[in-house]
Amino acid sequence: MERSYEFWGGVASAIVTGAASGLGYATANRLADEGYVVTAVDLDDAALTAAFADRSDGRIRTTACNVADAEGAEAVFADHLAQVGPVRVLVNCAGIASPGATLRSDGPLSLDVFRQVLEVNVTGTFNFVRLAALQMQQAPGGVDNQHGVIVNTSSVAAFDGMVGQPAYSASKGAVAAMTLPLARELGKYGIRVMAIAPGVFSTPMVNGMTERARDVVTALRPPFPDRLGEGHEYAALVSAIVSNRMLNGEVIRLDGGIRLPPR
Ligand SMILES: NC(=O)c1ccc[n+]([C@@H]2O[C@H](COP(=O)([O-])OP(=O)(O)OC[C@H]3O[C@@H](n4cnc5c(N)ncnc54)[C@H](O)[C@@H]3O)[C@@H](O)[C@H]2O)c1
Repeated sequence: MERSYEFWGGVASAIVTGAASGLGYATANRLADEGYVVTAVDLDDAALTAAFADRSDGRIRTTACNVADAEGAEAVFADHLAQVGPVRVLVNCAGIASPGATLRSDGPLSLDVFRQVLEVNVTGTFNFVRLAALQMQQAPGGVDNQHGVIVNTSSVAAFDGMVGQPAYSASKGAVAAMTLPLARELGKYGIRVMAIAPGVFSTPMVNGMTERARDVVTALRPPFPDRLGEGHEYAALVSAIVSNRMLNGEVIRLDGGIRLPPR
């Protein structure tokens, strides 16, 4: 069986955003376990440091950055290139949910809330995509002349968003929609682009919701298995995507077959 860290010729390296918690945390650990040197990025510096404090093999480096900040992200990529080498795998997991109905008892949903969700989930994702693509393009090609793999995180809310999710669904729809044009453009540089649309996973994002929202979300059950997803299951799909060079330009639902109800 091919092992993806052997694809690249030089150092197998990855950048994972939103890595202090949940799906990003599981993915950073999985890639490091598979032989990658990983730069783990998150807004929350203290949580990031604490998350990987027990990791003693030196395979995970931590860097605090707001993914939507252009200069901050440029510094992350410059440091990764200098200290590790060109990034080969980017996994964008940083994201915020901020549920909010359009019409509320105190008036319409604040535009600031709407803008903030799009800022982190869409602009933040594209910010890291553009910088990873540049570094991958300039790196030597590996097996099949592959230069890199980008995995973004959409959501099933992109397709069956619930009441209270207009901002989140719009943002995750945008992440899903950018997959094909990115894959079409970057394919000529040997770069694949995929997205994963998780169903409901047991992470701090879900566990940290208001009690009412959490009750609604955690009561949802897929046809099988009858439980929430786990971070390691998301990380396993990232690993499969990175390993399989025929996967490109597609959004994969990882949801146990769940379809979100209206409310
Ligand atoms: N958990 C689920 O059920 C679920 C379902 C569908 C999609 N998703 C998506 O998966 C991704 C990971 O979610 P999770 O459940 O692991 O959430 P999480 O809250 O556990 O982790 C998200 C991480 O992103 C970080 N982050 C937030 N804003 C940031 C910013 N501006 N810059 C850098 N880092 C930032 C947070 O500090 C946090 O550590 C998100 O994009 C989320 O929308 C999650």
